[in-house]
Order: sequence, then C-alpha cells, then structure tokens
Amino acid sequence: MCGIVGYSGYRDCSDVLVGALSRLEYRGYDSAGIAVFENGKIEVAKCKGRLKDLVAKMEIDGKPQGNVGIGHTRWATHGEPSDINSHPHSGEKVTIVHNGIIENYKVLKEFLIEHGEKFLSDTDTEVVAKLLGYYYKKNPMEPIVTIERTIKDLEGSFALGIVFEDFPDVVFATRRESPLIVGVGENESFIASDVPAIINYTKNYYLLDHDEIVKLENGDVTIYDDHGDIEEKELMTADWDMDAAEKGGYPHFMIKEIHEQPTSINTTIKPRIVDGMPNLEECSITLDKIKSFKQIYIVACGTAMHAGLVGKYVIEKLAKVPVTVDMASEFRYRNPLVGKGDLVIIISQSGETADSLAAMRLAKKLGAKTLAIVNVKGSSIAREADMLIYTHAGPEIAVASTKAYIVQLSVMYLFAFELALAKGAITQEQCKALTAELQNTPGIISDVLEKTLEITQYVGTKLVATESLLYIGRGLDYALSMEGSLKLKEISYIHSESYAAGELKHGTISLITDGMPVIAVATQSDLLEKTVSNIKEVKARGAKVILVAREDFEIDEEAYDYLIKVPKMQDILMPIPTIVPLQLIAYYTAVHRGNDVDKPRNLAKSVTVE
Ligand code: M6R
Repeated sequence: MCGIVGYSGYRDCSDVLVGALSRLEYRGYDSAGIAVFENGKIEVAKCKGRLKDLVAKMEIDGKPQGNVGIGHTRWATHGEPSDINSHPHSGEKVTIVHNGIIENYKVLKEFLIEHGEKFLSDTDTEVVAKLLGYYYKKNPMEPIVTIERTIKDLEGSFALGIVFEDFPDVVFATRRESPLIVGVGENESFIASDVPAIINYTKNYYLLDHDEIVKLENGDVTIYDDHGDIEEKELMTADWDMDAAEKGGYPHFMIKEIHEQPTSINTTIKPRIVDGMPNLEECSITLDKIKSFKQIYIVACGTAMHAGLVGKYVIEKLAKVPVTVDMASEFRYRNPLVGKGDLVIIISQSGETADSLAAMRLAKKLGAKTLAIVNVKGSSIAREADMLIYTHAGPEIAVASTKAYIVQLSVMYLFAFELALAKGAITQEQCKALTAELQNTPGIISDVLEKTLEITQYVGTKLVATESLLYIGRGLDYALSMEGSLKLKEISYIHSESYAAGELKHGTISLITDGMPVIAVATQSDLLEKTVSNIKEVKARGAKVILVAREDFEIDEEAYDYLIKVPKMQDILMPIPTIVPLQLIAYYTAVHRGNDVDKPRNLAKSVTVE
C-alpha cells in the first residue's frame, strides 16, 4: 500500500523524506515522489519506479533544497504506475500525497471539471488536490478550514500529507481509515504511515483519530479535532528501536524475522503467564467473561487467517467450543449468523487490514463481542475491539509474515488454555502442563532453526526450477500446510496448493506427474498412519516427497525423498516448531530464484483497501 511521510525541521528535507520512505518500502510500491519548499516555492520530484530511480532523477534534475516537505511511495490503484500518476499531485496553491481510496472520486471529478479544473493524471488523489484548491480559493489563507471542508466531501479512506504555497514552513495532514502517525522530535516533527519511517529520529509519536488534522510548524505539532478545536493527545512511545527496523547483518528482513521468533514468542507469552497458568487479565479477559461464549468466529486474512485455522483445531479440541474460521473478505458479505453471546476473534498483524476491520465492525453491529489479536500498537483494529491481546513480535518489515504468525499461534494457545479452563474442559493440572510446554517453544524453535537451516537450503535448490507443487497434511498439519504453501507462493512465485491429504483422491491426485514435488507434513501421532498412506499414494505416482515429520516417528524410507525432522512436543503444540522449516523452505527457494524476498511483486504489507 502507499506510504506517506512529511517533515518539518532543520535537516535536509529531501534526504529525510527519501530515508523515511525507504523504511516504508516493505509496504510495496511502484513509484515515488517528494515535494519540498525551496525558497518559499514547492518543488516536486517524482517518477515511476523504485526510490533509487527517484534519487537518480534528482541527481540529474537537482534535488529540492529545503527543510519542510512531504513524500510518497505509490501502490497503484487508480491509473497505471507512471511518472504522471506518481504523487505528489497539485491543485490551486496546494500539493498533496495520499494513501487510501476515494470512492466518490468520479462524482467529485465531474463537479470540478464543470468548475473549470483540468486533470493531468488518472488518480483519485488529484481529485482531492483540486478539491482542496477549490475550497482554498473560497477560504484564502485558511488551511484548516479548507481541509475540514474538503474532507467533508470525501468518501472512502485517506491519509493525506498537504502543503500550501502560502505556508512555506508548514506541513498539514489528516486521515480517515488509513493509518497515519505524527512523530515528535526535538525542533522537528514528522508524519508517516508507520513508525519505522521515523524511528531513527524519534520514538515519540501521536496517533491521529479519524478526521483530525495536524499542523507541523518549526518542529511544533498542533492537533485539531473534527470541529477544528485544538486538542491535547496522549504521546505514545515505541518500545523498540532502530535495530529492530534494520536488517542487523541478515541479507533480508524475512530471515531476520524468522530468527527472531524465539524472542517474539517469549516476549508475547511471558507477561501472560502467572504461577504457571495463563493470565490474560491485562487484556481484560477473565475466566468469568469468556466462559459463557457458545460459538466463536475467527476472522482474518492471509497468514493471520491461517493462524486462526490452527486456533480452531486447538480451541475445539481443548475447550469443546465450536469455532468457525472465515476470511474477512467473505465474512463481511455473507450475512454471517453472528449475534449476541458470540465471540468474534479478529487476528491481524497490522491492525489496519480493510476487510478485517470492516468484519470486526460488522460483528459489533450484530451484537457479538470482539477480541482483537493485533501486533501494531494503536492500530484501528486494536482501538475498536472490545477486548485486545497485543502480540509483541516487534515491527515486521518483510511482506511475508513469519514472526507475527508464530506469536499469533502462541496467543491462540494461551486463549484456548484459558477458555478450556473456564469451560471446565481441562483441569488446573492439565492447563499447567500445557502452559509449561508452550513456555518451552522458544528453546525448541532455536533448536529447529539450527538443525534445519542446511536441509531447507538444500531443498530450496531442488525446488528452484519447479513450476507447481502441492502441500499435504491432515488435521493441524493441514492448517499448517496452508501457511507453508502461501509462504512459498508469495515470495517464490511458484504455483502451490495445499490439500487435506485425505482429500487428494477426490480429484487433486490427478495433478501428480513424474517428479512433481509434494511437501508432506506429518506431526500428529493419531493421524500418522493415514498421512503416510496418502504420502505413499503420491510417491507411487511419481511425486518427489519432501517430508516434514516429528523426529521420533518411524516412517518407511520408501515413502519420501527428503526428510526434515522436527523435535517432539505434544501433538497439539507441534505447529509451532513445524512452521519454521516450512518458512525456511519458502525463503531459500525464493532466494535461489533470485527474487526480491522482502518485497514480492504485486504485494503490499498492509492491505488497507478492499
Ligand atoms: O496485517 P494483517 O495480519 O491483517 O494482514 C493479513 C494478510 O494481508 C497477511 O497475512 C498476508 O497474507 C501476508 N502477505 C502473508 O505473508
């Protein structure tokens, strides 16, 4: 998704903006641009391509010189990636950058054309720029009034960075639905779509609410509420630093984040375990509160939804409460039979995914209680949920989610243990034993990382020329296979499907041809025999089987070509160590194929549009 930044201070603004945008690159983009006040005039530099293309362009055309400005990386929605569609865009005496989608831009564009405006680009953003110009003409020297009036006309989502020609030291910004933070440093201030953009300048930031407007001037920050009155807001402090937003010696963020998983789990579960028992009171979750839920829905997208699938197996098995898992994009339009007495769990790393946020709002409207499991502090989903469990994975920069997934799993386990206890489905002793085993997972993951790095690299070399492959598993292994398959396809661009092993015979097995890779997951003791017989079925039809199995399982060597062993834990907890080699296979395959692992094509880190 687009990234926006803005700066008002004493440094070289072009450098600050490009540096800040580079730390938002993970969001995905196809063009970039900046607007900086140079001797009181707004100078724009923008082009299609990566930030390095913008820098190269500025080396030739001259870099805007000044201390105040705005910047943007664009992920095309309206209009192809091109120089002209790149942001910033301008209207009468005003220039803007925008993240989001203006749903009623066509009506507004017609209105503006009728009033004599001419458009250069195909973007919805230029409509906002021209509309701001239109209202500024009616309210000269009144930027706040102009912004307020303009956003009244807008439908959809936006985070806007705005500069007016008549206010050369000032950056304005506003938001609705799209994320925007306001960084506060010493004699300097910032706006940004996300904290990593500004973390090397300051850890202190404000979160803007919908339709609030902020003014950055000479390092000072003034925030106006949606009535135009100045308001005081709580200053937040990021609890991580620059190192967390840098690669720290790793070639990619993804591999760094895979290695951070033991720490992420530890930081997430430690404060929620008291005297060996799960304790979610700080998240306002008590045994009393949760014991009455009869039906649970887990709603999320992509990897977060896959964490929900594991959650379903675990909750149903331990707490005996029925769980339905939905993709947020389906849930919101299928008239779900959700209501009072139900619990809807929304899982999201970013806390800003448009479909997940809309699904949560729908669940609330229908009378259900909502619980959000979110990584990004202060994000929209976190702010609007009835109950909230933060995962403490730290910033996840790679587009392919790894550490966020594993901490989502760890939280699902804690919640399931607590719910099972509340329901009287497990005893205190059983709960303690499960919790103790969960506490062992960080150590076990470190062990898996050490032991599987080499074999997964090797398997990656074997998959490098593959066009298509299958993942298979049963029960929890099937849920895990779905995540393994998504990881591989999103970064390696290899077509990959995940199938319940027992379902193969009903159609999919016809895809197996000589030499086709099949990644089989077998970690569940009660399903082992059945899974192995499915593996043999594909092997007999020519598949090359890469088997990821629990180390103590005795499996006929004829059944596989490569074996990746995972340490033994209780069946129910096996997804945590087992996902690691699946992540590594995806990573090394993509690396061997020479792909841009952290920024796969067409993908954005946080999907804030439908
Ligand atoms: O921020 P969220 O967890 O809500 O994001 C959900 C998905 O967009 C995300 O998990 C996506 O599938 C990742 N690319 C997976 O690696």
